[in-house]
Amino acid sequence: VGDDTPPLRLAERSLPAVAAYIKSGRARRIVVMTGAGISTSAGIPDFRSPTTGLYANLAALSLPEPEAVFDLAFFRQNPQPFYVLARELYPGARYRPTIAHVFIALLAARGLLHMLFTQNIDCLERAAGIPAERIVEAHGSFAAQRCIECKLGFDAAVMRAFVARGEVPRCAAEGCGGLVKPDIVFFGEAMPSGFFAAMDRVGEADLVLVMGTSLQVHPFAGLPGMAAGDVPRVLFNMEQVGDLGSQADDVLVLGDCDAGVRRLADELGWRDELEKAWREL
Ligand code: APR
Repeated sequence: VGDDTPPLRLAERSLPAVAAYIKSGRARRIVVMTGAGISTSAGIPDFRSPTTGLYANLAALSLPEPEAVFDLAFFRQNPQPFYVLARELYPGARYRPTIAHVFIALLAARGLLHMLFTQNIDCLERAAGIPAERIVEAHGSFAAQRCIECKLGFDAAVMRAFVARGEVPRCAAEGCGGLVKPDIVFFGEAMPSGFFAAMDRVGEADLVLVMGTSLQVHPFAGLPGMAAGDVPRVLFNMEQVGDLGSQADDVLVLGDCDAGVRRLADELGWRDELEKAWREL
């Protein structure tokens, strides 16, 4: 039986080798997977970092456990903690995309971004100029909201006013009065249909970049494992997560993701363009 290990696409497990692979033109369908870690440098806390993460700081809200803030059953009986958090997280001018967001936008500008799967609900991907058709918001976003009972849509401007006041909006439909919730995927809710429709894009990737996620939440956490066995996977994260590092062409760039992305931009010769694009946002 012949040795069926696939040929390596990287000269070595390093950023210069990843840059050489991209510059060679053999990486044309790059799939990127992101989490809250790419927005922390924008000032938005992530969820699970020990001291700074949201889950460490929601304790003040007397939740049975931190994730309850995104639990539909808990929300029904006490929507207040979610709306305290919503006021913190609501997208708006106060948060700017990070270097990591802008790097992904550069990939898209070069026609190299096959798809971006994000778990984030801050809409900073769109703000960075990444085309909407290249973004899958796997956990939904604040872009729209509706009544959890009758599903009637709720006006965005009215929602923004309620969130700004930290008040809980209720459905205006005759005789309903149900709680209004943004189209964010709560634990136990179905993922957006677009997520499942886009999943096979991962199998088409010739390079996978994973940035700023603990890969704790499924089915998103299963995405990196859906890449073909011989496709390089690069992790930009404070710590090793998932099965990244277990495959022959995996590259671990551990530490701040903006710093890691800047190093890759240096190797690609894109650094000045990256900094300029970020400054001009
Ligand atoms: N640079 C690199 N890595 C970072 C940085 C940074 N500046 N800041 C945080 N990280 C890393 C953390 O070490 C952690 O591994 O990013 C990861 C963030 O993990 P989480 O806080 O769990 O966020 P995320 O993976 O996006 O959570 C997934 O869980 O709560 C649910 O629905 C929610 O979408 C969210 C999902």
